[in-house]
Amino acid sequence: MKFFVDTANLEQIEKAQSLGILDGVTTNPSLMAKEGVKGKEQIFNHYLAICKLVDGPVSAEVFSNDYDGMIEEGETLHALCPEKITIKLPCTENGIKAVKYFASKGYATNCTLVFTLGQALLAAKAGATFVSPFIGRIDDIGGDGIDLIRSIVNMYRTYGFKTQVLAASIRHTNHIVRCLEVGADVATCPLNAIVGLLKHPLTESGLATFNKAAEQMK
Ligand code: G3P
Repeated sequence: MKFFVDTANLEQIEKAQSLGILDGVTTNPSLMAKEGVKGKEQIFNHYLAICKLVDGPVSAEVFSNDYDGMIEEGETLHALCPEKITIKLPCTENGIKAVKYFASKGYATNCTLVFTLGQALLAAKAGATFVSPFIGRIDDIGGDGIDLIRSIVNMYRTYGFKTQVLAASIRHTNHIVRCLEVGADVATCPLNAIVGLLKHPLTESGLATFNKAAEQMK
């Protein structure tokens, strides 16, 4: 399973990259706004800065809801860094049409805000590179986000779709572990959820014991 970090914060991206396990980055308008970037120039420069830091796909989301706006923005985003930018489009009628358009040009796309198997089917049929089901937001309303990941993975395997299942809206370390169990291709996570995978009290107490023994042998 690949690891993307779900943030537009350059320090966090750098930290994730320095761990040596980072495969890509996802952003969205809320995450970009959090970084205080405003206006086209700052936004584009921010994406360029992210692309410089990471050796893998960088999802950049369109702000438009209409088809023509999505196409114009997607083309501009793609041109920023064609080998890394993945155009992120919402799973709406216009979004699906835009995914199809960009897929036919060979551009990478990420179909986002996916909450049902049916939406995931349309994203795959349109040729999306990635589909982003939002686990945490499904859990928030009493559903089972991991169950949706499992169903999409099974559906794509059964019908031979190439679209990668990118589990999004991951809130904690256990979500990552559960994504592994159900076969997600990618998990996009906050950095602290990734670092949380390292935490175990027996690792900590075992290390303390080994450190003591190492001291005695000095
Ligand atoms: O990848 C999508 C993600 O950023 C949304 O997360 O926590 O706002 O549901 P959240």
